[in-house]
Amino acid sequence: MLVLGLQGSPRRKGNTHFLLSAFLEAAARRGALTRTVSVNEADIQPCRELGVCERRGICPIRDDVSREVYGLIREAEVVALASPVFFYGMTAQIKALVDRCQVFWARKYRLGLADPRRTTRRGFVLSVGATRGKNLFEGLLLSARYFLDAIDAPLAGSLLYRGIEAPGDMARHGSVREEVEAAVESLLAPLLARKRLLFLGGENGRRSPMAAAFAGRRAADAWQVLAAGLRPAAALQPGVAEAMAEKGIDIGFERPRSLEEALAHGRPDVVVALDAEAAAVRLEGARHEFWELAPAETEPLTRLRDALEARVDDFLGREAGQR
Ligand SMILES: Cc1cc2nc3c(=O)[nH]c(=O)nc-3n(C[C@H](O)[C@H](O)[C@H](O)COP(=O)(O)O)c2cc1C
Repeated sequence: MLVLGLQGSPRRKGNTHFLLSAFLEAAARRGALTRTVSVNEADIQPCRELGVCERRGICPIRDDVSREVYGLIREAEVVALASPVFFYGMTAQIKALVDRCQVFWARKYRLGLADPRRTTRRGFVLSVGATRGKNLFEGLLLSARYFLDAIDAPLAGSLLYRGIEAPGDMARHGSVREEVEAAVESLLAPLLARKRLLFLGGENGRRSPMAAAFAGRRAADAWQVLAAGLRPAAALQPGVAEAMAEKGIDIGFERPRSLEEALAHGRPDVVVALDAEAAAVRLEGARHEFWELAPAETEPLTRLRDALEARVDDFLGREAGQR
């Protein structure tokens, strides 16, 4: 499970950096994978309001957001937005990233697409400010709430510290470590308690991403769903994302992953092989299934999609019956 931190302060070793690092370290100690996007060091251009995302659900601006951050946000199950208060809002650097996430807003509200992880992903806000006023975090929290809604990571909690100004102030705070531990524990415990289900194929470009998306949509609260290929392709096969979009499911930012990448999330409880080569793989401690598809089920792509949806429904029904 990926916990993604968006570090919005231009100070490399300042208070926000300290707070987010403590949050991600607490998540890693509990078994989560973690990543940080330091927005001040990344190539992030502001939104130019070209309108392409509203029509087609993509952003034509080529930078680190389109190259990497969109995919990380979709992969993450916890997104922590971390920013100091600058003039009662978030920093300009992180606001630029937030605005570029209009892509997710458009895919969700204009194009009617649903992210398979939308039921489980959670958002969290970490912030610091120098003064102590009652309204110090209101502007930042209002923007953050709408951003987190757009990326399907509803605000689950926040840690906000007043009177924090000089770079070492946060580290000197008496109770921050305990407060971070408690917040991370309650946020992650239900997500880490899920069993892991891995769909394994050849290229992870066609069958396994479709199966994983159906399983994620139906049962992400009970299963951490992963997909991988023995020889991962560079991208999903043409037409796969469009076929899933016909079902209202958004896998537009998915990319094929290797088995090693999937196993970094932890040992799977169940491995579903989607071709004969994958069926030969044995992972210690996992239960293995092989879903052999009839030739008629695999052509055209929409028939394969519907066959996989039926298999996933059947699998989840069986598993729910056993619980
Ligand atoms: C441009 C700028 C604007 C700021 N605006 C506010 C503000 O409106 N309210 C406040 O309490 N602190 C404000 N601060 C102070 C920072 O929030 C504070 O120093 C914080 O600890 C910096 O966190 P960092 O070390 O993570 O960058 C501002 C600082 C800067 C540089």
